[in-house]
Amino acid sequence: MPNVLITGANKGIGLAFAQSFAVDGWKVHACCRQPDKAKELKAIEGDVVLYKLDVSDGLRVAGLAREMIDDPIDILINNAGYFGPRLEFGEIDYDDWTYTFQINTMGPLRMVENFVEHLASSDRKLVVNVSSKMGSLNANETGGQYVYRSSKAALNAVTKSLSIDLKDKGITVISVHPGHVQTDMGGEEAPVTIGKSVSGLRKLIAKVTEEDTGQFFDFDGSTIPW
Ligand SMILES: NC(=O)c1ccc[n+]([C@@H]2O[C@H](COP(=O)([O-])OP(=O)(O)OC[C@H]3O[C@@H](n4cnc5c(N)ncnc54)[C@H](OP(=O)(O)O)[C@@H]3O)[C@@H](O)[C@H]2O)c1
Repeated sequence: MPNVLITGANKGIGLAFAQSFAVDGWKVHACCRQPDKAKELKAIEGDVVLYKLDVSDGLRVAGLAREMIDDPIDILINNAGYFGPRLEFGEIDYDDWTYTFQINTMGPLRMVENFVEHLASSDRKLVVNVSSKMGSLNANETGGQYVYRSSKAALNAVTKSLSIDLKDKGITVISVHPGHVQTDMGGEEAPVTIGKSVSGLRKLIAKVTEEDTGQFFDFDGSTIPW
C-alpha cells in the first residue's frame, strides 16, 4: 500500500490531503502540532496514523524520523505553513520574520534532510513543497508582504537545490501553489475551494515524473515562473 506523510494535517489543505489519500486506500502519516485536538483528522476512516510534530522543532523532526525508520515514505507533503503578521514596509517584525522562515523554509528542508532515506527506499520518491505564487518574483505585481513572500521564494530555492542534490537518489522534488484557497489562511472570500485545490493537486501529483523535478506548478498543472 502506498503511503504519504503530511505536515500540518489537522486543518485546511493538509486535512483535505489526508482525507483524500485515505479514501483512496493510502496509508497516511498525518502530522500536526496538537493531535489531541485534531478532531476532524481523527475522524477520518482508513489507515491514518497521527504524530505530534512542530516542523520548527529540529529535535522532534529527527526523533520522528527515527521512530519511523522502518517506514518508506512514497510522498512527503511539506504543507505546514504560516502567513505571519500582515505587516508592510516600515512595520516589519524581524523576530516574526525569523519564525516564519523556520516554518515555511527551514521546516521543509529539515523534513527532507531527516526523511531522505525513507523517501529513497520508497517506490514513488516524491517531495511536494507547498509554496505559494506569492513567492514568485515574476508574479509579484503588488509589492508588500515581505515576510511571507520571501519565506516562500526561499522555499522555492530550497526545492531547486534539493532537485539537483537528490537526483542521484531518484527523488523528485517540486514546489506547488495550491491556489488562493478558502482556509483560515486564505480567508472565506478566497476564490478556490479546498476540494478544488486538493483534487487539482492530486491529479498533478499522480502524473509528476522525475523529468519534472525542480519545477514550480500551479494546482491546475501549469508551471509558474520563479
Ligand atoms: N490558503 C491559501 O490561499 C494558500 C495559498 C498559497 C499557499 N498556501 C500554503 O498552503 C499550506 C497550507 O495552508 P492552509 O491554507 O491550509 O492554511 P491553514 O488552514 O492556516 O493551515 C496551516 C497548517 O499549518 C500548520 N502549522 C503552522 N505552523 C506549524 C508548525 N510550526 N509546525 C507544524 N505545523 C504548523 C497549522 O497547524 P496549527 O493548526 O497547529 O496552527 C495548520 O495545520 C501552507 O504552506 C500555505 O502557506 C495557502
